[in-house]
Amino acid sequence: MPEPMTQTFPPTFLWGAATSAYQIEGAVGEDGRTPSIWDTFSHTPGRTAGGETGDVAVDHYHRYRDDVALMAELGLTAYRFSVSWSRVQPTGRGPVVQRGLDFYRRLVDELLEHGIKPALTLYHWDLPQELEDAGGWPERDTAFRFAEYARLVGEALGDRVEQWITLNEPWCSAFLGYGSGVHAPGRTDPAASLRAAHHLNLGHGLAVSALRAAMPAHNRIAVSLNSSVVRPLSQDPADLAAVRRIDDLANGIFHGPMLHGAYPETLVEATHSVTDWSHVLDTDVHTINAPLDALGLNYYTPALVSAASGEVKGPRPDGHGASEHSPWPCSDDILFHQTPGERTEMGWTIDPTGLYDLITRYTREVPGLPLYITENGAAYDDKPDPDGRVHDPERIAYLHGHLSEVRRAIADGADVRGYYLWSLMDNFEWAYGYGKRFGAVYVDYASLERTPKSSAHWYGEAARTGVLPPVPAV
Ligand code: FCB
Repeated sequence: MPEPMTQTFPPTFLWGAATSAYQIEGAVGEDGRTPSIWDTFSHTPGRTAGGETGDVAVDHYHRYRDDVALMAELGLTAYRFSVSWSRVQPTGRGPVVQRGLDFYRRLVDELLEHGIKPALTLYHWDLPQELEDAGGWPERDTAFRFAEYARLVGEALGDRVEQWITLNEPWCSAFLGYGSGVHAPGRTDPAASLRAAHHLNLGHGLAVSALRAAMPAHNRIAVSLNSSVVRPLSQDPADLAAVRRIDDLANGIFHGPMLHGAYPETLVEATHSVTDWSHVLDTDVHTINAPLDALGLNYYTPALVSAASGEVKGPRPDGHGASEHSPWPCSDDILFHQTPGERTEMGWTIDPTGLYDLITRYTREVPGLPLYITENGAAYDDKPDPDGRVHDPERIAYLHGHLSEVRRAIADGADVRGYYLWSLMDNFEWAYGYGKRFGAVYVDYASLERTPKSSAHWYGEAARTGVLPPVPAV
């Protein structure tokens, strides 16, 4: 029997939910917004399930007041959202569009009035199309454009938003966007994906400095990494070497320069057939290593890898779409396996211990750096009952399992300050369109009506009491 205390969280723990601009806002042509790479990609035939787009999404741009009221009613204390770059700086350079910026100012004020702490992500994958036309993330200039955009948003909202996140999951931007091509802009060029990773890193470092200069000193700056938990199929040295390579390509390529001031040497060696890394200039890594106030971790499922003989193309361990092009450069000799166990609707194996392992890894690697779980959640095929209610006991079990591991990590000394459930409400799940429901709140896509699922009530109770309620029988 677990001790009741182990389900009690620190009183200052943040209980949040997360979303991103393109997945929820809609209003893609309003108030001066121009297309991002996701508008272009989703409107390109064959790129998303059923040709679905974020044109309307869940119309949060017009319904944000109701959405904030709903969060407050449930008892959430924090909300992580992202700013659409092309809404505030349509061409990706030059002056801001005031109307676009005003939307985020109104949203933040609404949150603050309801006692909900905003956490603002500057980049959740939606590069202004003009910047992609100029070369996108494989081009060095994009990093400087990102820093300028960061400064503009920092100047405008730094007086009311304390929690800042530069990039969301740069791995996906670089390797799904430019490697496997399942995400916008849909390019399949391993060298470009490695250049993109570096320029995302550089953009992050430049943005941290730009934000520091533009905002009050007490604001806190972080990055959200989808750091993979990579496990070996066996203890065979070849499998352990496979883990090392994938860990470098999934994690070290970002946290190396960001947190430790260097790219892993093993990464540089492993990828030399694709790039000579001459796009990394002398002072870049120092710029990228700008001190952070916190680290955001997004976790869904672990990866299980082994060495393979012959040609094997590995899909991303936790999904987001299959492609004949691997997102992992120089890794055709590595096999990805399905981790045993129950899976969610995405086909992602449920393994809460992975979250514990991730938290404790970063606690060891960067002692003293506060951690936030900036995404964690599950997709299920939720449907309303005849009485209109939506029961999702599997999602409650998922959340309970993962939050229990967060609590265990805290008990073991980890400094985890908050948790943002992915996602507040059902939304546009990238290449999967609207087919995968991650929300704690159900959205009827015909009427756009919102209905909190039973998991929303369960999570709200956890937020209000600081204690995980029991899990109802499935
Ligand atoms: C993460 C993304 C988020 C959502 C979840 C399911 O990788 O950051 O937008 O797609 O996966």
